[in-house]
Amino acid sequence: MSSQKEYLLGIDLGTSGTKTVLFDTDGNAVASALVEYPMYQPKNGWAEQDPKDWWNAARDTIRQVLEDSGADPAAVKGLGISGQMHGLVMLDENGEVLRNSIIWCDQRTQAECDEITEKIGKERLIEITANPALTGFTAGKILWVRKNEPEIYEKCRHILLPKDYVRYMLTGEFATEVSDASGMQLLDVKNRCWSREVLEKLEIDPSLLAKMYESPEVTGTVTAEAAALTGLKEGTPVVGGAGDNAAAAVGTGVVEEGKAFTTLGTSGVVFAHSDSVTIDPKGRVHTFCSAVPGCWTVMSCTLSAGLSLKWFRDTFCGEEKAVAAGMGVDPYYLMDKQAEKSPIGANRLIYLPYLMGERSPLLDPSARGVFFGLSAIHTKYDMLRAVMEGVIYSQRECLDILRGMGVVSSEMLACGGGGSSPFWRQMMADVYGLPVKTVANKEGPALGAAILAGVGAGVYKSVPEACRQVIHVNPAQPPIGENHWQYEKYYEIYRSLYPALKESFSSLAAL
Ligand code: XUL
Repeated sequence: MSSQKEYLLGIDLGTSGTKTVLFDTDGNAVASALVEYPMYQPKNGWAEQDPKDWWNAARDTIRQVLEDSGADPAAVKGLGISGQMHGLVMLDENGEVLRNSIIWCDQRTQAECDEITEKIGKERLIEITANPALTGFTAGKILWVRKNEPEIYEKCRHILLPKDYVRYMLTGEFATEVSDASGMQLLDVKNRCWSREVLEKLEIDPSLLAKMYESPEVTGTVTAEAAALTGLKEGTPVVGGAGDNAAAAVGTGVVEEGKAFTTLGTSGVVFAHSDSVTIDPKGRVHTFCSAVPGCWTVMSCTLSAGLSLKWFRDTFCGEEKAVAAGMGVDPYYLMDKQAEKSPIGANRLIYLPYLMGERSPLLDPSARGVFFGLSAIHTKYDMLRAVMEGVIYSQRECLDILRGMGVVSSEMLACGGGGSSPFWRQMMADVYGLPVKTVANKEGPALGAAILAGVGAGVYKSVPEACRQVIHVNPAQPPIGENHWQYEKYYEIYRSLYPALKESFSSLAAL
C-alpha cells in the first residue's frame, strides 16, 4: 500500500461490540475489525459492561486494522471515537476502573430520577438539560452509586462516558464532547457547557467531570504507551468524536436541517438535525447538541429494537443459527426469509418491544415485552414477524412525535444492523409511509467518527463539507401504498395496548 495515501480511523464502541474501521480520505473503508463483549444483567432491568472489555476491544481492533491494511501508522492523520451514550465509568485517583459501567439501557434509577426532578424542578431541568430526568441518563446512575455504594463513590475521582474512557486509555486525557455529554443530564444543552446549577443542586463535584470540547476538536494525542499497544503512531490526534447517534448522523450526512435517519441497532433511534434548540415539552424525545458545532439534534430512543430480534434469535432460533453457520451466512438473513412467509400483521399477532422497559415515547422503566393475540395457529415465524413489526411500530410512534415538532422532512435514511435488511427496511417504508434510503457506506458511526477526525486534523474544512464529499446515498425504497393501509390497522391497535397495560406493568414490577 502506498505510504502517500492518508487515512482516518473511526472507532465505534457499541453495546454488542467495538468495531474499528480504517478509511481513506474519500470515506472508503480500507480495513475493519470487530470484537464482541458481554452485557451483564445482574437483575431484571439492570445492564452493565466492563470498561476494560471496551478498551481491550478498541486496542485489538486498532492493531488488527493497521495490520490488515498494511497502512503506514504515520499516514493515519487522526482518530475519532463514537460511543454508546449515557454509561457511567468511575475511575479512582490512579485512573483505575472502580466498578462495572452501568450502561444506557439500565433501568434501576427511578428513585434517583425522582430526586433529581424534586431538587431541580421539572420545568427548570428541561430548560437547562433539554430533557426530563431519565433512568437511562448518567446523572441518576451517579446518584445511585453514591447512595448504594458509598465506598466506591468515596474513591471516585473521574467520571467518564464509555468512549471517553477509551480516549483516556489512548491519550491520558480526561475529555468529553458536547454530543455525548448531552446525555448525562448535567449539561446546559443550549450553552454547550456543564451546568453549574445542576451540579450544585445535585451536589456533584465539577472536578469529577471531564473537560468539554466540540466534537471535531482535537482533545489529545496518542501516548507512547498506547502507541506500543495499538500500533498507532505516538502523537496521532484524537478528536472529541461523538455519541453513537450523533456520529451516525455525520456518517450518513444528516448534518443539515430537514434530514433524518432511523437506526435499528440494539436501540432504535429516530433522529433529525436542527439548526436551533427544539424541545418536546413532554420530554418524550431528546434534544442534544449535534456533532456539528453550533447545531442540535432531536431524537427518540427505544431500548429494545435490534435487542428484541437478538433476544428472539438467541432464545428461539438455535436451529437457524446452526444452519446459517453451515451455509456461511448471517442467521438474521435466514430469519428475514422466514418472517417473510408470515403475512402483514403476522396472522393477527402484535408484539410490544419493551424488554428492558421503555424510554421513548413512554418513559416507563416498568413496561415489559408482550405478544398480544397469540393463538394456537401461530408459528415461530409469525412471532418473528410480529417482533420485527412491533419494533417498527415503536419507531413510527416516535416519528409521529418528531413530525409534530416539525423537524422531519419527507424521506428517511435507514441505518444500523437492522437497516441493512431489505425486508425490515421495506416494512419501515410501508409503516412510515415514506421513501427509505440507505447510504452507500455502511459504517455509519465509525465513518462519522473518522470524518470528525478528518475535520480536526485539517483534512476537511467542516463537517457538512466533508459529508458532501464523502457520503453517497443509494436510491430510495418507496412505500407500497396497499401495505401502508394494512399496517395502519395494526398500528392503531398497537398504540392502544400500552395505555391499557400501564397499570398492570407497574403491578408486575412491584411484585
Ligand atoms: C441514546 C441511547 C442509545 C445508546 C446506545 O440516547 O441511549 O442509542 O447510545 O446505542
